[in-house]
Amino acid sequence: MRSSLALVLLASVTKITCYNFDFESIQLQDEDVDKNPDVAFGEKSTPIAGAEASACRVFPGTEQWPADEAWTRLNNSLGGVLLKPAPPAAVCYPSSPSYNTAQCNYIVFNASTNRFYINDPLTVLTEWPEGSTCPATLTPKGNCTQGGFPDYVVNATTVKHIQMAVNFARNKNIRLVVKNTGHDWVGRSTGAGSLSIWTHYLKSFEFLPEYTHDKYKGVAAKVSSGIEAWETYDYMDIYNMTLVVPNGYTVGAYGGWMTGGGHSILGSIYGLGADQPLSIQAVTADGKFVTADLNNNPDLFYALRGGGPGTFAIVTSAVIKAFPFLEVTATTLAFNYRNSSTIPENDITLPLTLQDRDLFWRGFNLYNRFGLSVVDANGTAYSYATALNNASNIEFTGTFEFPGKSKTEVKKFMQPLFNELNKMGINVTNPEPGPSTNWGPKRDGVGDVPGNSRFGSRLFPRANWEDDELWEDTMRAVRETTEQGYMFHGIHVAPTEEVAGYPGQNGMNPAFRRAVMHADMFDIGSAYDNGGSRGEATPEQIIRGHELMNEALNKWRVATPDGGAYINEADVQEPDWQKSFFGSKYERLLEIKKKWDPWSLFWAPSTVGSEGWAVRDPDGLPTQNGPLCKV
Ligand SMILES: Cc1cc2nc3c(=O)[nH]c(=O)nc-3n(C[C@H](O)[C@H](O)[C@H](O)COP(=O)(O)OP(=O)(O)OC[C@H]3O[C@@H](n4cnc5c(N)ncnc54)[C@H](O)[C@@H]3O)c2cc1C
Ligand SMILES: *[C@@H]1O[C@H](CO)[C@@H](O)[C@H](O)[C@H]1NC(C)=O
Ligand SMILES: *[C@@H]1O[C@H](CO)[C@@H](O)[C@H](O)[C@H]1NC(C)=O
Ligand SMILES: *[C@@H]1O[C@H](CO)[C@@H](O)[C@H](O)[C@H]1NC(C)=O
Ligand SMILES: *[C@@H]1O[C@H](CO)[C@@H](O)[C@H](O)[C@H]1NC(C)=O
Ligand SMILES: *[C@@H]1O[C@H](CO)[C@@H](O)[C@H](O)[C@H]1NC(C)=O
Ligand SMILES: *[C@@H]1O[C@H](CO)[C@@H](O)[C@H](O)[C@H]1NC(C)=O
Ligand SMILES: *[C@@H]1O[C@H](CO)[C@@H](O)[C@H](O)[C@H]1NC(C)=O
Ligand SMILES: *[C@@H]1O[C@H](CO)[C@@H](O)[C@H](O)[C@H]1NC(C)=O
Ligand SMILES: *[C@@H]1O[C@H](CO)[C@@H](O)[C@H](O)[C@H]1NC(C)=O
Repeated sequence: MRSSLALVLLASVTKITCYNFDFESIQLQDEDVDKNPDVAFGEKSTPIAGAEASACRVFPGTEQWPADEAWTRLNNSLGGVLLKPAPPAAVCYPSSPSYNTAQCNYIVFNASTNRFYINDPLTVLTEWPEGSTCPATLTPKGNCTQGGFPDYVVNATTVKHIQMAVNFARNKNIRLVVKNTGHDWVGRSTGAGSLSIWTHYLKSFEFLPEYTHDKYKGVAAKVSSGIEAWETYDYMDIYNMTLVVPNGYTVGAYGGWMTGGGHSILGSIYGLGADQPLSIQAVTADGKFVTADLNNNPDLFYALRGGGPGTFAIVTSAVIKAFPFLEVTATTLAFNYRNSSTIPENDITLPLTLQDRDLFWRGFNLYNRFGLSVVDANGTAYSYATALNNASNIEFTGTFEFPGKSKTEVKKFMQPLFNELNKMGINVTNPEPGPSTNWGPKRDGVGDVPGNSRFGSRLFPRANWEDDELWEDTMRAVRETTEQGYMFHGIHVAPTEEVAGYPGQNGMNPAFRRAVMHADMFDIGSAYDNGGSRGEATPEQIIRGHELMNEALNKWRVATPDGGAYINEADVQEPDWQKSFFGSKYERLLEIKKKWDPWSLFWAPSTVGSEGWAVRDPDGLPTQNGPLCKV
């Protein structure tokens, strides 16, 4: 890192449009290419050798797959950061060369309290998209295989590493994958037979107290793309400022989160992650290292901010807006319903139990309607509603987050909601608000373990709050799907163009601008959720389970004709995904994609320009476990 004096000097020089972190000044040179032509830059007019003729990306085990010598040469060029990792849980499988019961015990029992998985080069935190070919278990069934995990990983710590990997994959017609933290829910950071670029260790940070760029003059920060949300809070504390970062502590802030959108506790006051960059550094599909901002490559700048993760270029860092230091104050609400004949006599643990199901839903509806006032007061609200045993047992919890408001202000703001709930007969009391537990310094990024969630989602437009009839339809749809057993997870957030502010004009889904709520519908009983792996479920059961979830989601879609879906938290099989994820911006984004990546090198499911290719999963499932082929 540079000294702060150098920073001040740099930032105060006018006409500086960009400058690099140390790791960004290490770039691929012609002499590197002379030594290893496999890492030569691409010409956009030149197709990938052999790609026209072959139906698929070159797959391991085929004749075209690079010989060991080529990989060794690449590793040498890379200075030794090429990895060929086995799946982490291979140690649990007796037929695996690395079989080791002590290590398997460690993974099964101890990996949930440290950073084992987040520091693993292959792990993706939702397991099924990989094919669940090597789950961590003490009672393994079958053998552990590489499945949808990459074959090789570049543990990138310089721009040069990224450039070499991009060029090698393109020149050899190999599938390329970009993984940062592996939080992607649907497998956009993994892929069978691929070379993966792992950006996790790009951890540089600089505070820019006086940053000037185009019309922006003020406080900013330069953040590299491997930084996780929790790592930014200490910087905010040290420099007495606020950055917009994800709620999920270990989600990468300026990798997948920002490029796909990025909502957070600050979403209704400062917009999305995609609204924060003033200037971006990135490696493009031809292997070049470029600046993207309003003055340099503005089309790429547009697309990289919200136009979808892993699609246009590999972001190495972004200069983002910084805001004055903010306290975030939080408060909660919870109640639940129990069919009276099913309440155990000694059940006194519940915050508030209703025995009238309609009353429960009237309270739930009121909470959701009140969410409009919350977002218009710069706040966000996160809720869950879960129905069990054929809706004889329904839980509701909500958390409200108010940036920049005092405890007294928050309590006063919330009182009308509690008054209305009390009037209905829901005897909740307005609690004392406190500092948000989702915000502030001294965090640690431990505890991620792979899960198996399958869900769909919807962006609910403001229009639905403003029309009583539409509102009733909306809440009826949510009640129906929740009582069917799909867990509701609502996030009230309103990242309008207005709160997004300067520089604006990005590739973000217009449906998110109109939204007051983004909500997920979790298939909690899904076949995928069977014991942390695919379990005993057959492909047919999984496909049928998805059809049912999609039918349920149609109820939400019908109730929100002006809605869409948020690409980073959505079903990978979202019907008409181009419209849902990008709306009217799709065509422009597709043009930009074709211009910057005519090879479709950066490919991930249901992202811009991905239509021409599909993964051939052996069971016809929407995983990354199979070769990537033209359709
Ligand atoms: C526990 C959890 C909490 C979450 N919380 C939030 C939240 O609060 N708000 C929210 O909006 N979303 C949230 N998400 C969703 C999250 O935004 C996405 O999963 C996001 O894509 C993660 O980005 P990543 O870089 O950390 O993960 P990865 O899985 O490593 O990458 C995700 C995608 O981004 C691409 N990508 C990664 N790095 C780069 C880069 N440098 N340049 C270009 N493309 C890149 C990858 O290729 C992949 O397509 C959460 C997800 C989980 C699992
Ligand atoms: C790359 O080189 C390093 C250092 O020599 C070595 O440790 C590593 O195993 C090599 N990677 C592969 C895939 O061979
Ligand atoms: C599992 O691996 C062992 C050892 O490599 C092999 O003999 C066996 O056939 C494999 N089983 C299956 C089901 O592939
Ligand atoms: C794993 O966890 C167990 C129980 O929590 C603990 O006793 C043990 O020391 C841990 N092992 C390691 C290697 O951390
Ligand atoms: C990846 O590189 C980082 C930084 O050099 C290093 O700390 C880490 O151990 C490497 N990881 C693996 C799996 O090689
Ligand atoms: C931190 O910033 C806030 C808001 O701008 C300001 O009121 C406060 O005085 C600053 N604190 C310090 C220690 O500089
Ligand atoms: C409550 O549970 C009983 C026993 O399971 C059932 O007969 C009854 O229909 C349920 N009532 C409601 C309103 O769900
Ligand atoms: C929302 O935040 C903005 C920007 O900080 C502030 O000007 C405005 O007063 C806030 N609105 C409310 C209702 O608190
Ligand atoms: C679930 O409850 C509804 C009414 O609340 C009832 O009509 C239906 O038969 C129940 N289904 C099962 C499987 O119990
Ligand atoms: C709420 O409180 C009132 C007055 O204390 C009481 O009459 C009513 O039964 C309570 N309702 C519920 C659902 O507990």
